[in-house]
Amino acid sequence: MGVTGLLDLADEAAGIAADFLLHRRPGDLQVESKSSATDAVTEMDRRSESLIVEHLLNRRGDDGVLGEEGGERRGSSGVRWVIDPLDGTVNYLYGLPMWAVSVAAERDGEVVAGVVRAPMLGVSWLAERGAGSWRRSASGDLQRNAVTTATDLAQALVATGFGYAAADRVRQAERLHRVIGSIRDIRRAGAAAIDLCWVADATVDGYFEEGTHHWDRAAAGLIATEAGAVVSDAAGGPPTDEMTVATSAALAPALRAMLAAT
Ligand code: IPD
Repeated sequence: MGVTGLLDLADEAAGIAADFLLHRRPGDLQVESKSSATDAVTEMDRRSESLIVEHLLNRRGDDGVLGEEGGERRGSSGVRWVIDPLDGTVNYLYGLPMWAVSVAAERDGEVVAGVVRAPMLGVSWLAERGAGSWRRSASGDLQRNAVTTATDLAQALVATGFGYAAADRVRQAERLHRVIGSIRDIRRAGAAAIDLCWVADATVDGYFEEGTHHWDRAAAGLIATEAGAVVSDAAGGPPTDEMTVATSAALAPALRAMLAAT
């Protein structure tokens, strides 16, 4: 499918990791904490990242890598892989289906290809810069992604997420309290990459979240953008760790304005 080969390679690597996570989940999964007591990481996160990195570097040994679980490697080719080996770790722990493997390729600092695979949902999302965005079913059917056609924020279903630090999530919940009366409803699925892909395929009308990381949104941000979404920070600039907002061009000004007012 990919024009440059990077998309196909990302898809292969994400597929290997997704199969591993789906079929090799141990019964007695040991959980450790990262940034806070509720920020979980498991040996499955780390082994998933190792499988992805090994596959990518076996084929393209001069590339760089940035992975959530610590994989960082400078390359010399101009290509860097940005990996979230298990987005939605808490869902994975609880057996909830909203978790995904996310692999993006950057060329000279710009994301050019991205894949998000959510095997328990039976769906993958893929995009290549300038070439479009697709949703692929478990049977391999491809459908082009296109963002919501809704134009009224009051009728918009908006996804969001919470950070792991207690003080951050209390502040985020307070904002939610101020926002929820102005939209149709909120969804909190538990995986930022899936939230962004749901913006791409119009499963939800919009998404915002404070405190995500580059690996959460690298692949899914391109998937959303190529589907017609505006993916930005609170002011309409590029998305940052402080704030990511994603929705259609029609809804973006109103969603950003609502967030600014809260
Ligand atoms: C988390 C999930 C969650 C989001 C957090 C992320 P992880 O990623 O995407 O939905 O609210 O901001 O950190 O820890 O499961 O990879």
